[in-house]
Amino acid sequence: MHSAPQLSISDELRRRFRDARRVLVLTGAGVSAESGVPTFRGGGNSAVWKGMPFDVISSARMVQRDLPAVWEWFDYRRGLLEALSPNAAHDEIAAWQDRFADFALVTQNIDGLHQKAGSRSVIELHGSIWRARCVGCHTRSAIIPNRPRDNACHDCGDSVRPDVVLFGEMLPAGTFERAAAAAADCELCFVIGTSALVYPAASLPEIAHASGAFVCEVNPESTPLSHWCDESLMGKAGDVLPRLSRLALESSGK
Ligand code: APR
Repeated sequence: MHSAPQLSISDELRRRFRDARRVLVLTGAGVSAESGVPTFRGGGNSAVWKGMPFDVISSARMVQRDLPAVWEWFDYRRGLLEALSPNAAHDEIAAWQDRFADFALVTQNIDGLHQKAGSRSVIELHGSIWRARCVGCHTRSAIIPNRPRDNACHDCGDSVRPDVVLFGEMLPAGTFERAAAAAADCELCFVIGTSALVYPAASLPEIAHASGAFVCEVNPESTPLSHWCDESLMGKAGDVLPRLSRLALESSGK
């Protein structure tokens, strides 16, 4: 019988988890790994499409050169996602939004699994695979699971592209600013399932730390954060998060 490795949580983190009001959670691909979504770098197998590394097929240049190929790649990934469900990590994070008075969830993921788990007002730094955007008028439109996807904009008829931040592109206007404001304001910051290599997302825990927040990382592997964050919980998010909530609250008799 698989027994979860010992999880040691400091008294400091237990106290802060119990007493914090302003909390920021930043997630990456690792939070969806236990749902079956491949990660990009660490832990899982890196994604390659028809011999093209993901940062080539998922690039602004490829939208210029071959939009149908980009859609083929994103249609394939969306097809995989349709059959997948949130895991215990997504569920726990969704529960945290009602536990902490001032809670912000920022994700690098485009898979929509946080929302499927019930998380509200998720700040999607890199967009969503469940939306399209017009290349002309930038109107956004939802892509409905198990329904054919429109290739043309409903408003102006121009072609649409995935509403995802591709390599070589800026984040959607205002999105990072909202996340950075939450990072500067939080007193407890969780960084879950990210290699913390891609900026500006990886600067959010730095902003939180510089503003005096306690930064806790959850990852089965070490990352650049592991060297300076206040606490590193080495393990899988689906295992660590429910136990963290339970242990932190148990020790207070709450
Ligand atoms: N629980 C927690 N963390 C996990 C788990 C798990 N079950 N499985 C893997 N991880 C960790 C890995 O150890 C790794 O550090 O998740 C991290 C995934 O890192 P990446 O694949 O680099 O994903 P991410 O950090 O989200 O990438 C950032 O890069 O490719 C772009 O736009 C893409 O949003 C993505 C961005």
